[in-house]
Amino acid sequence: MAKRAGKTVAESAAEMVEMVLPNDANPLGNLLGGRVMHLMDIAGAISALRHAGSQVVTVAVDNLDFLYPIRVGEMVVLRACITRAFRTSMEAEVRVYREDYLTGARQQTSSAFLTYVAVDSQGKPQGIPPLIPRSAEEKRRYREALHRRRQRLALSARAHQRYFDKS
Ligand SMILES: CC(C)(COP(=O)(O)OP(=O)(O)OC[C@H]1O[C@@H](n2cnc3c(N)ncnc32)[C@H](O)[C@@H]1OP(=O)(O)O)[C@@H](O)C(=O)NCCC(=O)NCCS
Repeated sequence: MAKRAGKTVAESAAEMVEMVLPNDANPLGNLLGGRVMHLMDIAGAISALRHAGSQVVTVAVDNLDFLYPIRVGEMVVLRACITRAFRTSMEAEVRVYREDYLTGARQQTSSAFLTYVAVDSQGKPQGIPPLIPRSAEEKRRYREALHRRRQRLALSARAHQRYFDKS
């Protein structure tokens, strides 16, 4: 069988920009955390779709902190890229920024690693191209992604064990 051609990080990188509207905010005028999570999932999925070239599903979201509020009237900017592709799964890093369009100033408010699995039309996992890291930064993230994957899978296995112990 022919070996799958790899794809670079740039080929699947994505940037999304949205205006924060009152409907998306809490009574303090801050963008709702749930809305931020939704946008992060979409941005990560766009990168994963581009990398896999097939349907994808979200299988895991790592730790997520909200460091600063994003206010109504500001822009929310999301940048996503694939850090490493495995057999059928891939890790995306999504960073969130608030942007003041009057000054152009950007401040990072959140970041998280999300894992997506490429699936066929029956929802069955299917193989994806390898990722080709080029820059020193991409290579560092690529190395670190393996460590995160091991931790993630170990945590997930322990959580499943606890669940089955109770049932
Ligand atoms: C994702 C899903 C297809 C995986 O199915 P599965 O039968 O567990 O398949 P596998 O065991 O072969 O795992 C497939 C890949 O997912 C990875 N994976 C499974 N659970 C994981 C987890 N908790 N965290 C990270 N990766 C995980 C596996 O390591 C494997 O990766 P690899 O092929 O790159 O080595 C299935 O669990 C599913 O459909 N989940 C629901 C997804 C969903 O509805 N998401 C929300 C809406 S998009």
